[in-house]
Amino acid sequence: DWNMPDYIAEAVQKIREQVGDEEVILGLSGGVDSSVAAALIHRAIGDQLTCVFVDHGLLRLNEGKMVMEMFAGRLHAKVVHVDAAEQFMGHLKGVTDPEQKRKIIGREFVEVFQAEAKKLPNAKWLAQGTIYPDVIESGGAKNKKAHTIKSHHNVGGLPETLGLKLLEPLRDLFKDEVRELGVALGLPHDMVYRHPFPGPGLGVRILGEVKAEFADLLRQADAIFIDELRAADWYDKVSQAFVVFLPVKSVGVMGDGRTYEYVVALRAVQTQDFMTAHWAELPHSLLGKVANRIINEVRGINRVVYDISGKPPATIEWE
Ligand code: XMP
Repeated sequence: DWNMPDYIAEAVQKIREQVGDEEVILGLSGGVDSSVAAALIHRAIGDQLTCVFVDHGLLRLNEGKMVMEMFAGRLHAKVVHVDAAEQFMGHLKGVTDPEQKRKIIGREFVEVFQAEAKKLPNAKWLAQGTIYPDVIESGGAKNKKAHTIKSHHNVGGLPETLGLKLLEPLRDLFKDEVRELGVALGLPHDMVYRHPFPGPGLGVRILGEVKAEFADLLRQADAIFIDELRAADWYDKVSQAFVVFLPVKSVGVMGDGRTYEYVVALRAVQTQDFMTAHWAELPHSLLGKVANRIINEVRGINRVVYDISGKPPATIEWE
């Protein structure tokens, strides 16, 4: 048990002492950890912080808009919004291998971020939303092995190449503490209690080659699934839920005609640690409603399936 106002006051004091009058940059991803780190550091040093939000074109519907509204709009933080969708799409063209896709997205991310960092020559610090479990994981051999099964996109090496000092104000906190802190700092509940979202984003939820057209369809379908989960009070009962885009077409019927359109899969899992997971036994009525809405509202998708595979042997993501 901890006293939140005291904790915030102490953390703010510590950041001010560490940073002095120097400037800080932070990569804002829209995820919980970087958002809470940004809100805390902004509370401490205001305009000495510049957030860099890299939109790789593989984010969820309205995500960029929401991040900008929250941080630039409501918190009045300095946020640089980099629209790098075309650059990412260009480099992903023709690439179908999942690990290759992850590597390209990770590499481009670092490149775009570095280019932005160079435009802020006064910055002496790189802030990251590293939390306690990340600290343990990178030290523990057992977890390390498990985590190299899929190469996770991270910006490891960045502070060295940029010659920056590292500021990690969430290093001692567990995830639930980070969430409490976020709420106390005024971040919206829905932002702070979001399901995890992989760094490569929709890039690993579009099977095979990533195309802007597929990303657009997937974004719409995913938003419908998440909306309906929230409306049915199921969002917080599952650990992670999302839609996967399958680049295959199947036959359907609409009015008097046949359609030949894409298939998506719904994925929802329950898990403690994401190392093993059960598929969520969502009510059939909810699944039916989601499928109907996707098929009726997203032109280009005519079939929806539900993934009932556990981990292991399946993974949570499809790539
Ligand atoms: P899997 O699919 O391996 O996923 O069962 C376990 C958890 O890790 C997330 N995940 C990723 N997160 N970069 C990330 O930041 C990645 O490349 C990546 N791949 C999987 C996945 O969303 C799930 O929460």
